[in-house]
Amino acid sequence: MNFEYTEEQQQVREMVREFAAREAAPFVREWDTKQNYSRAIIDKMGEAGILGLPIPEEYGGLGLDYISFALACEEMEYVDTTLRVALSVHVGLNSLTLLQWANEDQKQRFLVPQAQGTKIATFGLTEPGAGSDAAAISTTARKDGDDYILNGAKMWISLADLADNFLVFATLDKDAGHKGMTAFVVERGMEGFTTGTIHGKLGVRAGNTGEMSFNNVRVPSANRIGEEGEGFKIAMSAIDQGRFTVAAGAVGLTKAALDASTKYANERHTFGVPIGKHQLVQQMIAKMVAGREVSELLVMKAAELKNRGIRNTKETSLAKWYACDVALQSADDAVQIHGSYGFADDYPVERMLRNARGAVIYEGTREIHQIVQAEYELGYRIDKPLNKPQPPAQGYGE
Ligand code: CAA
Repeated sequence: MNFEYTEEQQQVREMVREFAAREAAPFVREWDTKQNYSRAIIDKMGEAGILGLPIPEEYGGLGLDYISFALACEEMEYVDTTLRVALSVHVGLNSLTLLQWANEDQKQRFLVPQAQGTKIATFGLTEPGAGSDAAAISTTARKDGDDYILNGAKMWISLADLADNFLVFATLDKDAGHKGMTAFVVERGMEGFTTGTIHGKLGVRAGNTGEMSFNNVRVPSANRIGEEGEGFKIAMSAIDQGRFTVAAGAVGLTKAALDASTKYANERHTFGVPIGKHQLVQQMIAKMVAGREVSELLVMKAAELKNRGIRNTKETSLAKWYACDVALQSADDAVQIHGSYGFADDYPVERMLRNARGAVIYEGTREIHQIVQAEYELGYRIDKPLNKPQPPAQGYGE
């Protein structure tokens, strides 16, 4: 066990930190107020190689490990949640899933341009009537010659109106439950496929969140990922990657809340002393410190398992649950430390509080993670080997 980041990992962190400080930090308040950011920032992430960070070089990525990827997510969310969300859906839920499950032709057609950042990707599982119960989706796929015809709708899809490629899940046989689910890449421009944006969110306002609609969309078999009926496993292994990015990002949000709080606590005076001298303020600072440290350790444990290609569903779920709860509590305490100033957008902590709230719902609610953890501990949930396990990071497992 090594608690020090390598030189390469530190360089990645520095590169992403500088990118976020330069390209995003000056604009995040404006993006949040306007409830919009342009695709240009995601394209710039692509140009900097950030959208291909953990993808092997042979598929257009940088070939870096999961610790570096976690640090990138952390640095992005330190500046704003919306930037990390782009990494979560494009890299975590989509590209890393294609790396695990797609055939060579599909990797060349979809993964390579995504890793290079010339195509933007997202993931479509959740529906208006199916969130936590992911196997209850109603979007259907019907075989027609060498194609499939998709009908239905998806909701709460990050980057819905910005993405080019969509990893979508549909059922060939609803009565078969999760065994009927199949995965497809739907491409923007396919006839009958439309997207839209959802407005009025509590947080992640700058980020694009939307819906997808499929009206007799003809998808060639060459775009089916994995076998028929393998969709649920593909979706769950995608979520093992997505949750990891959310957990890593939550560490960044906790660090941002803590840094803002210590700065303010040293500047603001009450009763003749800086408020940092008051023990109840210190208690909130101390809780953030403990939360930051434990969250980071949980994320890095999951990262190490991923580096080695070891199944990490349990560890990733724990990291996601814990780190997101800590981030929400830290943002709330940061607002409290800032007093009335924390309630307005002159300081970034109110945005942090709004942004932290969603992560306790998306990529598995707090309650789903608690059930999963209890089931593992009680012996009710036992991971089975996968026919296509997650590949180790480049340079590991050789
Ligand atoms: N990887 C691969 N396969 C897996 C897996 C994983 N992580 N987890 C389960 N499977 C397999 C199982 O081995 C099992 O296989 P068999 O059919 O061979 O037995 C099969 O999938 C069914 O698994 P379970 O019996 O564990 O399924 P379940 O119904 O008991 O539990 C659940 C499933 C844990 C509740 C799951 O539905 C879940 O995690 N729900 C939450 C969904 C979620 O996180 N949605 C977020 C959507 S993405 C999002 O929010 C993105 C965004 O844009 C913001």
